[in-house]
Amino acid sequence: MRINNLCKKLITTLHCNTRSRCCVMSWSLLGCILLLHLYSIIQQKHEEGVEFQFNVNHPHPLSHFHELQQVEKENFQIPPPNKKRLHQSKSITPLVDEFLDEHSPLRHVVFFPDKTSAVDPMKSKGNDSYYYYPGRVWLDTDGNPIQAHGGGILFDENSNTYYWYGEYKDGLTYFAHKNKGPARVDIIGVGCYSSKDLWTWKKEGIVLAAEKTNKTHDLHKSNVLERPKVIYNKKTKKYVMWMHIDSANYAKASVGIALSDTPIGPFEYLGSRRPHGYQSRDMTIFKDEDNVAYLIYSSEQNNVMHIGPLTEDYLNVTSVMTRIFVGQRREAPAMFKHKGTYYMVTSGCTGWAPNEALVHTSESILGTWETIGNPCVGGNKMFRVSTFLAQSTFVLPLTKFPGLFIFMADRWNPSELRDSRYVWLPLIVDGSDDQALEYGFGYTLWPRVSIYWHKKWKLPMGWNTFK
Ligand code: DGJ
Repeated sequence: MRINNLCKKLITTLHCNTRSRCCVMSWSLLGCILLLHLYSIIQQKHEEGVEFQFNVNHPHPLSHFHELQQVEKENFQIPPPNKKRLHQSKSITPLVDEFLDEHSPLRHVVFFPDKTSAVDPMKSKGNDSYYYYPGRVWLDTDGNPIQAHGGGILFDENSNTYYWYGEYKDGLTYFAHKNKGPARVDIIGVGCYSSKDLWTWKKEGIVLAAEKTNKTHDLHKSNVLERPKVIYNKKTKKYVMWMHIDSANYAKASVGIALSDTPIGPFEYLGSRRPHGYQSRDMTIFKDEDNVAYLIYSSEQNNVMHIGPLTEDYLNVTSVMTRIFVGQRREAPAMFKHKGTYYMVTSGCTGWAPNEALVHTSESILGTWETIGNPCVGGNKMFRVSTFLAQSTFVLPLTKFPGLFIFMADRWNPSELRDSRYVWLPLIVDGSDDQALEYGFGYTLWPRVSIYWHKKWKLPMGWNTFK
């Protein structure tokens, strides 16, 4: 309406010599006004969008998430860098330099709080029960630190139990090659813990053990076994484990497969291979709603991620494979799905040192994948660009609350790998349902994926459907 009136006014007040010139001028002016008007609407909507995205107090339609979405700051001071560190620094922030410094005064206060502050579900009472404290030592039901690094969780529908599998790293940290390459511990095996509440974990034992004598065996203790993940095959009724298998210098770059009749093993090791004939280092597996499972792995010297479906028995890959994030050098993939859309959190490649997480998304699992950005919210800026000093390993959906996930990450301790810590935080997908898509210009507007920093937090009441 406003525009129509304006145009009428313009046309009648214009003094033209000829009718046609008048027409051309007035239409051009009208065109300009329309463009300006359109621009101001887009600008306004854009600002509204930005305001929405960063207004963390905006209540989620499900108020259960509200508390988890509160932004929590971290206020610790970083000491001034020492001279040696100034020259050596290659990392992304002074916080990461500080983190990697074994003598940092923050080491036992912020990064690796000592055992006196351990989370002990067997001794916690009343108000402190069920709280996650990212970065603190976490004890199992026997009172020992949980050893399930680079891990993943299987929810076993047969027993209504969660199983957490990960690297059992309880050995000495040393360098395989005279202080060169990444620090390592000998393979001990894959640790497995069970829980009904995702907080109290009972050790089920080492479900796939290292080979102590045969030096040519993949699982010989001098090799590398990382990031084990287990899924259940409904057809074969077998539990299938995939893991990163490597030589001490990471040249073998393969995946290993193991099989068991029960979630608590023992798993039978079936061997390793290079999937699709390519190198495979950091990896994960993902079972889709239609029971098709996929292998996702860092390949081509970590320059490219590969993704492809597994065979029906989950014991091999098929010939189908897509190359994604080409040239982006991503690793530590953790895949999840929400409302039919696929998401993946990945890290950069900086050994055991933390770096910035990115979230990628796609409407179809084999792509096209788009990178939507850093999901970390809260803490402080250095915390956010270093994934709260941790690296992604798994994202666990909480089916009772669609959109709420547990982001599982490892805070590696390169000088004492067995003392690496778990950083579990709420990951929430929200945003686009109540945002207009009309200004997308043909591009999809992805929902916002956020991982919220909390010193302590717990899952919302009623998350547990089977308890
Ligand atoms: C980063 C990977 O994500 C870890 O799983 C491990 O392989 C380290 N690199 C070794 O430096």
